Amino acid sequence: MPSQYSAYVSDTAPGRGALRAARSWLHSDAPTRSLNGSWRFRLSPAVPTTADFASEGFDDSDWDSIPVPSHWVLQGDGAYGRPIYTNVQYPFPVDPPHVPDENPTGDYRRHFDLPADWAEAERVVLRFDGVESLFRLWVNGEEIGGASGSRLAHEFDVTSFVRPGDNVVAVRVHQWSAASYLEDQDQWWLPGIFRDVTLTARPAGGIEDVWLRTGYEDGQGRFEPEITAGVTAFPVTLRVPELGVERVWTAPDDVVPFEVGAVDPWSAEQPRLYDVTVSGAAESIALRVGFRTVEIRGDRFLVNGRRVVFHGMNRHETHPERGRVFDEEHAREDLARMKRFNVNAIRTSHYPPHPRLLDLADELGFWVVLECDLETHGFDAVGWVGNPSDDPAWREACLDRVRRTVERDKNHPSVVIWSLGNEAGTGGNLAAMAAWVHARDTGRPVHYEGDHTGEYTDVYSRMYASVPETESIGSDTSRAPLMNCTPAQSARQRTKPFLLCEYAHAMGNGPGSLDQYEELVHLYPRLHGGFVWEWRDHGILTTTPDGTPYYAYGGDFGETVHDGNFVMDGMLLSDDVPTPSLHEFKAVAQPVRFTFDSGTGHVEVTSLRHSADTSDLRLRWRVEHDGTVVDSGDLKSLVVAAGESARVPLPEVPVAHDAETWLTVDAVLAADTAWASAGHVIATAQLDCSARRPVPGVRRRTGWRPSDGTLTLGIADFAEGSLVRLGGRPVTGPRLELFRAPTDNDEGVSDEVEESDAAVAGVSAAALWRRDGLDRLTARRVSVERTDEALRTVSKVSAANSGSSVTVETVWSVEGDELELRVEIEPSRGWRTVWPRIGIRFDLPDGTAPVDGAEWFGLGPLESYPDSLRAARTGRFSAAVRDLSVDYARPQETGHRSQVRRLTLTSAGSEVLRLSAVPDLRGRRPGFTLSRHTPQQIARAAHPFELPDSTTTHLIVDAAQHGLGSRACGPDVRPEFALRPESRTIRLRLSAG
Ligand code: GAL
Repeated sequence: MPSQYSAYVSDTAPGRGALRAARSWLHSDAPTRSLNGSWRFRLSPAVPTTADFASEGFDDSDWDSIPVPSHWVLQGDGAYGRPIYTNVQYPFPVDPPHVPDENPTGDYRRHFDLPADWAEAERVVLRFDGVESLFRLWVNGEEIGGASGSRLAHEFDVTSFVRPGDNVVAVRVHQWSAASYLEDQDQWWLPGIFRDVTLTARPAGGIEDVWLRTGYEDGQGRFEPEITAGVTAFPVTLRVPELGVERVWTAPDDVVPFEVGAVDPWSAEQPRLYDVTVSGAAESIALRVGFRTVEIRGDRFLVNGRRVVFHGMNRHETHPERGRVFDEEHAREDLARMKRFNVNAIRTSHYPPHPRLLDLADELGFWVVLECDLETHGFDAVGWVGNPSDDPAWREACLDRVRRTVERDKNHPSVVIWSLGNEAGTGGNLAAMAAWVHARDTGRPVHYEGDHTGEYTDVYSRMYASVPETESIGSDTSRAPLMNCTPAQSARQRTKPFLLCEYAHAMGNGPGSLDQYEELVHLYPRLHGGFVWEWRDHGILTTTPDGTPYYAYGGDFGETVHDGNFVMDGMLLSDDVPTPSLHEFKAVAQPVRFTFDSGTGHVEVTSLRHSADTSDLRLRWRVEHDGTVVDSGDLKSLVVAAGESARVPLPEVPVAHDAETWLTVDAVLAADTAWASAGHVIATAQLDCSARRPVPGVRRRTGWRPSDGTLTLGIADFAEGSLVRLGGRPVTGPRLELFRAPTDNDEGVSDEVEESDAAVAGVSAAALWRRDGLDRLTARRVSVERTDEALRTVSKVSAANSGSSVTVETVWSVEGDELELRVEIEPSRGWRTVWPRIGIRFDLPDGTAPVDGAEWFGLGPLESYPDSLRAARTGRFSAAVRDLSVDYARPQETGHRSQVRRLTLTSAGSEVLRLSAVPDLRGRRPGFTLSRHTPQQIARAAHPFELPDSTTTHLIVDAAQHGLGSRACGPDVRPEFALRPESRTIRLRLSAG
């Protein structure tokens, strides 16, 4: 028989006992006491059979202490269990509403002092802002109640249980409960009291809740106030000092909507806030309001009458040491970073964040899609049978969640859409949640992606739609039914605004094609942009047994079931380092566009902003000759209104005859903002003004004769046809390299491959590469010939048990005072897949002067790939070898610099080897990668600490690389960026440093 204590955990009721109704999270002057700090703590592996720990006299002296807020699995160095990561799967049997007896349960106790003057309070309330997953509360030995809804606020009336002076509060927290079925988000399971615990004295005549709904139209602001208070709270006065507004309501019935006159509107671009106080007889509440009107008109989503385009991020609350525990300073910096990278929107995936985050979003300026804490994705595995979203037994739990979500955050101007949750199938409870929200808040639309047919939500939302599919949704040219829709349902969905609540899965190196999605937004006004999945990696900082720190992912804590590194899919690495994909996002989302008209010597400046003009920006220009600045200045200043364009004259550009000439234009902040300093670059464009210069032709040589291949040509020494030294230092190569350490996208197995004929649904590109042996090529020398000034070898390169091969002809020749290397790469017939790269590799052993740096003229400064080139600009760059690679949580392909013209390898700052790349007959230039590990070594490591010690620097020069795509979760590389086996030429000129 289950004990009363274990039966408790499988009850679907969301709250019990003296739990109070949801209300706004307000800044009030009523007295409060934080109960954050050190609590006594005991962890039991299963639900204890008694609750004697809650009694007043219980002796907890042999218990440990734990900080509140925290997650117990991130405390005590493993003494309290370890985090578990799963994506879709439940880490317990799907047996709703039951959970296993092995249910880690944390008992917490602490004393607190109730000030004597609190005796005058009408009520004493104890608030929990976040406890995972179900908790039960006692004060002075009396049971008060309990609640679930981990990322939601719960308040309990403890008035009749507290006394002046010393009190003891006891909380029992169960890791697993019926509620866990509703919280199957793709993230770590992290139990504990992880948000603030606060005691508040509610005064007699206090204001229970305030909702200041605002509106904005034609320069005028409007308030629709709602005051929840008893008659004794009145008169209540609302003041907006800055606007000279003062309203006195003498009774609840007086509280009616009113116009406030001329105001500045709130938008994510100009987050204008006004300080407001609402004061009653006994309590005063401070709010910061923004005036804005959210509406859907036809298939447009508008704020203040103007269409919104979301350049958004899905934001989880995650930190490598704190987990979901909030740190305001870190959050503020995180949001400021988003602003610096042209992010204008946040979806709070997949639950309400710490309430302060929304104050920050109001202040810094973001469009927020505020999501309820609900996901039941694991029911997918059982065909959605028993899904809580469609079972009346769970209706109250679902409704309670959305009520707590909306009520807590309803005052925030940044919140422009409510989202019912994520991946919870569909059903009556979701429809009931939507109906409740519609009735409660007519001022914001309801979103839920799982409502595929649009039965009960207001916007059409999808995740991971491909570029062509997104285009077909945006355009009216396709009559094909939409996913999971009948023709009639499709027609309904096409009448709504569309957004991608998730797209561009940023796992590891990638995604590609961000710019292609962006183009569509400007072609089809129905499309409102979307939210990248996701903002940051969820790595948990831990150490190997020998003490090496690393960011752990699924499986690193010995979980029974887990989903590996699928939780490392952010645009920021776990340690806050922006990945190149975030730079790409910034370039793609830039709100100012430049279109050069070199004929008339003008540039057209277009503002893609929502409503702000460009008066906050300065336009700078500079001219570079082969990457060296030769002139610079400011363009004529101009103010472009949102959505408009204007033309500005370009400067005279001095064109070099022996160098490339590039004009770069930047839009930069003219003054400091809350999130960046003056001079911060918002948008950039480049114009190639180079004079045409001839490409040296290949000199045909005659007089080839068979050779033993042991000779010296310029700076190169050869033995038996193979390079052994360059400029006196040992170097081997070039060897054909077709392999790259598969990215997470290369390892993706999604079925979305219809566009790319070389891909196979359900089989990753990486699996095909391994099948074809690209990671283990071997060579057979076919011939070695020489002339007096040249050496030519031909090799056939292939893999074990493969009939396909590549013929590689290598010609070294002395051309004046330089050495030229020309490599002709020609695949046989029969290759069936795309290739990751077509490159040649040189190995440079360390010797006494390890190659540890590079300087180059080409695209940079960061890595770039064919479908992710927008952040790269033409210029001169330098970097240490270790900084040329990105520390992805799972090592993978990284570091490719595209379109290199000249590259110098350095050792401790001295030049070792200079290479320049001659474009091929179609003008294409190679890229390069400089790394301490080979692709094969990188591919074998699951974590950075597994990479072997290295004694060699590896240079790979690639004629081409495959795109990145987004197939870890979504579409494959677009066909135009897929690399098919093809013949390529690489031509380099080399000289010694
Ligand atoms: C989505 C889901 C996200 C995340 C993502 C993949 O389906 O909503 O929570 O799991 O896939 O990383």
